[in-house]
Amino acid sequence: MRGFQKNNDSLKKVQDEIFKCKKCPLYKERKKLKIFPVVGEGNYRAKIIFIGEAPGANEAKTGHPFCGKAGKVLDYLLDSVNIKRKDIYITNILKDKPPSNRNPNQKEINTCGHYLQRQIEIIKPKVICSLGNFSTKYIFEKYNLKDKLKGISKIHGKVFESQDTFEKIKIIPFYHPAVALYNVNMKKILRKDFQVLKGTKKLKDKK
Ligand code: URA
Repeated sequence: MRGFQKNNDSLKKVQDEIFKCKKCPLYKERKKLKIFPVVGEGNYRAKIIFIGEAPGANEAKTGHPFCGKAGKVLDYLLDSVNIKRKDIYITNILKDKPPSNRNPNQKEINTCGHYLQRQIEIIKPKVICSLGNFSTKYIFEKYNLKDKLKGISKIHGKVFESQDTFEKIKIIPFYHPAVALYNVNMKKILRKDFQVLKGTKKLKDKK
């Protein structure tokens, strides 16, 4: 199975813990439905990390993030700025699929969030792209940007700067790609917002 962390011991350790994690009720759903947690995948030395909300049905069936319809939109957007999945890292706040694809709740976010935090600390990206309101709120709170937090319709495509323990980090919130599935206008907005990533391409080559 693709997508699991073969190349980095620390990420592999996080993955193993996620597979064994029983801290929230989503674990029971995973066992009942015989589905997978979606740990995240991509380049463990990525300069850019994308963070969605939670796996959907396709993702939980395969273990790969953004492999369903919203993933197709994400691929289209990445392609529009010539960014390849192999150069970035993609994950979610929640690693398990919520029932009926409902939104993540605060308890689940609190329980699961430390895995994401550790992934970020291991990968040490220069840019965090949060997809949608949930991951934007989570990331803004973690990176001391609470005072700048507004609904995604107000801050999408804007670049925020914060200081991580390792160094300066750029945080760029985007609409969640799923909003473009039934709204061509949103797809245009997302495509325009993604242009901001063109300037981050040279970061890729530095590591
Ligand atoms: N939506 C998300 O937020 N994450 C996925 O992995 C798929 C759909």
